[in-house]
Amino acid sequence: MRRLLIAGNWKMNLDCNGARELALAVCQRAPEFNAVDLLLCPPHVYLNLVSQAVAGSPVAVGGQNMYHEPSGAFTGEVSGAMLADAGATAVILGHSERRHVLGETNADVNRKVIAALQVNLTPIVCVGELLSEREAGRTSEVNRGQIEGSLAELDPEQILQIVIAYEPVWAIGTGKVATPKQAEEVHADLRRLLAERYNQAVADKVRILYGGSMKPGNAGELLQQPNVDGGLIGGASLKADEFLGIAQIGTALENNS
Ligand code: PGA
Repeated sequence: MRRLLIAGNWKMNLDCNGARELALAVCQRAPEFNAVDLLLCPPHVYLNLVSQAVAGSPVAVGGQNMYHEPSGAFTGEVSGAMLADAGATAVILGHSERRHVLGETNADVNRKVIAALQVNLTPIVCVGELLSEREAGRTSEVNRGQIEGSLAELDPEQILQIVIAYEPVWAIGTGKVATPKQAEEVHADLRRLLAERYNQAVADKVRILYGGSMKPGNAGELLQQPNVDGGLIGGASLKADEFLGIAQIGTALENNS
């Protein structure tokens, strides 16, 4: 019922040529993987050229962040309308690097989510605990708190437009992937939270992606978990073969389900 979404978060990597080549390599083979949704999130300066490279293919394009104001004197910021104008249909919000390196709060993320929805961008809202928080037994409390804060004031209609990404901070870019059991526990907990706050029907429809060192070698067992609805992929999304390898695994799972 929930279609898998395989999303690439290119972070602050590549140059014009590299971005174009990677986008072309992904979209050339994308029709083989039409049982899953594919999304590429390049740096903002490459959004336009990536959108042009994937035009006519099933691959969608998204931003990695945005500002909550629609326009004005906010030097260095980019609005949701600008992302949409450059071809984006989605935007990653509240990524752990923005929360922990750049100091974004749940309130900031919440303002951005609301602003993204106003311009019809799909917010991919990231949450995740630090290793110290997991070791202190606070995983559920931290992730629930981030969801409560980042999705405050949203009605059920708006929640249905959102994708959640669970990305344990200790697994991002470290090669230490969460076990399928650890991922499933948090995903199921977040879905329970959505059912408590809204209702089961809404909770059943929202996609919850896993992110953190996902690679072709571990994607199968993660994507098989009942509450894991795709991946937000960093390092492995910078290589077309690895990203498409994950898409292939997702496609095989969808076709067998
Ligand atoms: P990673 O990054 O796959 O390199 O761990 C995931 C992410 O930060 O979205």
